[in-house]
Amino acid sequence: MQRETELPFDTYVMNEKWQHRYISPVDYAKFHRQTLQDFETFWANVAREIEWFKPFEKVLDDSNPPFYKWYIGGRLNLSYLAVDRHVKTWRKNKVAIEWEGEPVDEDGNPTERRRLTYYDLYREVNRVAYMLKSNFGVKKGDRITLYLPMIPELPIVMLAAWRIGAITSVVFSGFSAEALADRINDARAKIVVTADGFWRRGRVVKLKEIVDMALEKVPVENVIVYSRLGLKDTPMTEGRDYWWHKAMRGVPINAYVEPEPVESEHPSFILYTSGTTGKPKGIVHDTGGWAVHAYATMKWVFDVRDEDIYWCTADIGWVTGHTYVVLGPLMVGATEVMYEGAPDYPQPDRWWSIVERYGVTILYTSPTAIRMFMRYGEEWPRRHDLSTLRIIHSVGEPINPEAWRWMYRVLGGEKTASASTWWMTETGGIVISHAPGLYLAPMKPGTNGPPLPGFEVDVFTEDGTPAPPGVKGYLVIKRPWPGMMHTIWGDPERYVKTYWSKFPNVFYAGDYAIKDQDGYIWVLGRADEVIKVAGHRLGTYELESALISHKAVAESAVVGVPDPIKGEVPIAFVTLKQGYQPGDELRKELRAHVRATIGPVAEPAQIFFVTKLPKTRSGKIMRRLLRAVATNAPLGDVTTLEDEASVEEAKKAYEELRAEVRGHE
Ligand code: WT7
Repeated sequence: MQRETELPFDTYVMNEKWQHRYISPVDYAKFHRQTLQDFETFWANVAREIEWFKPFEKVLDDSNPPFYKWYIGGRLNLSYLAVDRHVKTWRKNKVAIEWEGEPVDEDGNPTERRRLTYYDLYREVNRVAYMLKSNFGVKKGDRITLYLPMIPELPIVMLAAWRIGAITSVVFSGFSAEALADRINDARAKIVVTADGFWRRGRVVKLKEIVDMALEKVPVENVIVYSRLGLKDTPMTEGRDYWWHKAMRGVPINAYVEPEPVESEHPSFILYTSGTTGKPKGIVHDTGGWAVHAYATMKWVFDVRDEDIYWCTADIGWVTGHTYVVLGPLMVGATEVMYEGAPDYPQPDRWWSIVERYGVTILYTSPTAIRMFMRYGEEWPRRHDLSTLRIIHSVGEPINPEAWRWMYRVLGGEKTASASTWWMTETGGIVISHAPGLYLAPMKPGTNGPPLPGFEVDVFTEDGTPAPPGVKGYLVIKRPWPGMMHTIWGDPERYVKTYWSKFPNVFYAGDYAIKDQDGYIWVLGRADEVIKVAGHRLGTYELESALISHKAVAESAVVGVPDPIKGEVPIAFVTLKQGYQPGDELRKELRAHVRATIGPVAEPAQIFFVTKLPKTRSGKIMRRLLRAVATNAPLGDVTTLEDEASVEEAKKAYEELRAEVRGHE
């Protein structure tokens, strides 16, 4: 959601519970500066808190920028850090995962719960690693595509893959067959792991059928299918597809697979994300740097202790789930909650019943979810005991001050530490946030807070100089950091061009931001053609390509417009080919087509039919003008516009549809 540049700079929020951690903004800034002074020593000390099979010799190799390498010479294994380490201690019998399926009985109680201790996880991770290695021949460096719902088998198979040095590529289970096929193809995955289906809002989603559609276009050697629902009609291709439980039959209960001591810079995962142009990029992360970043931020930002019950509500299909459902919490030996289904199923208090049932103390969620619950009303959380919560953070998009205040007051009872943690797929972990695990600088509703220790963040003006406090500019990271991405899979040039070319030697995040007098950062939204729909990242280019792939569409332009709950939603302007008539029927068809091509999150909220799109004389679509039309904003500079009538037409189409919608209301 685009916020006004007038910010409530001075509304500090403090509470007694956190007094012991309070620090003034000035003192925090001083502490932060110190961490940057001897930056390599700082990050070396942080890294020594995790266990290395072979210690690193050098903290940062910056000999070939921007291809930085962290913890050179070090060897480690993520699966070892997440499970083996704990089973050697009293944590062996500690609950690692409290899982809850979506279905409920007539009293609203969950009918499926699973509780896995660290020892259970250790056993399963080893057995699955054994299966991958001996039954399917998975080796170090092989890519495995995971298309799975939120069930414990997803973290288990990720850890198993990392145990043998394979590279995971998780594809969000809400993506369509086509999106899945593209990602399998780009990563040249050897195998796909999926499930027969899962529950979502009381309905069965048949995942394996989607996989089969994807595999019509791209071949893989094998598919492993976990039976989540016991669906007997699941299509299985002889010789290619295997049921997980059958493939596991021959695996001994006490199977042990030696964790591969991989190099620090060995890739651990690829995660596809949207950019300004072109197909989604495969963001590649290393092992050592990512592990250090995940571990440190779990402590600093979430202050996790052994008695905590931690719940990050993100899907593992996004980076938040990778770092803060899978690696981070397990590395610190936390007990965490994992929930399969929709937040408001069967009623809008499902999440609050979960917080109450497990006594959740740390909650990590999204502004979109908060705004949705605000709309349902306070009575739903009020029905449950939420008094255990001591930290609630949000992530994924800017949080408007009203939503922050609601979260703080209604959910947190005005006693939580709460931040809007800023980061992105590319950063691997949180970069800007309050750090209540260390010190808590006064909170302000809507801010991201100051940069974390060891991260040098700034806001630049167009000419590449720091913007003064209060002035909007581009968010940049001025030094490399441990969890940083290493490259774009198969396209290192695009990595350099996208992130390291706008300003020399600094990482360009693609966000607008403001720095305030206290050095807090306020990220305002994307500065490029990326839109965040309910926190999900989509490229307008992808939506436009999806629309153009429909037989009726000649051209299309997609822009994001503000939405009170989802933050932003896509709307599309399209021109039609000869012989096709605009109308509600076609509108419906196009929306369904986008759902089928990308996935339900991408469905345009509105489609406007026009006969021409506003373009520059050189033929570039001026999306900025369409956004202005759809938000009733001033058009700004139109001197490069080729044909002013196009804007008038867009305006007319927009107003007509508005009037029609109003007529229905
Ligand atoms: C984009 C990255 C990082 C986890 C999930 C998103 C936006 C993220 C915030 C925040 C304002 C935020 C930015 C960023 N964003 N967190 N706390 N305040 N904006 O990862 O899908 O790679 O998206 O999300 O625009 O660039 P992602």
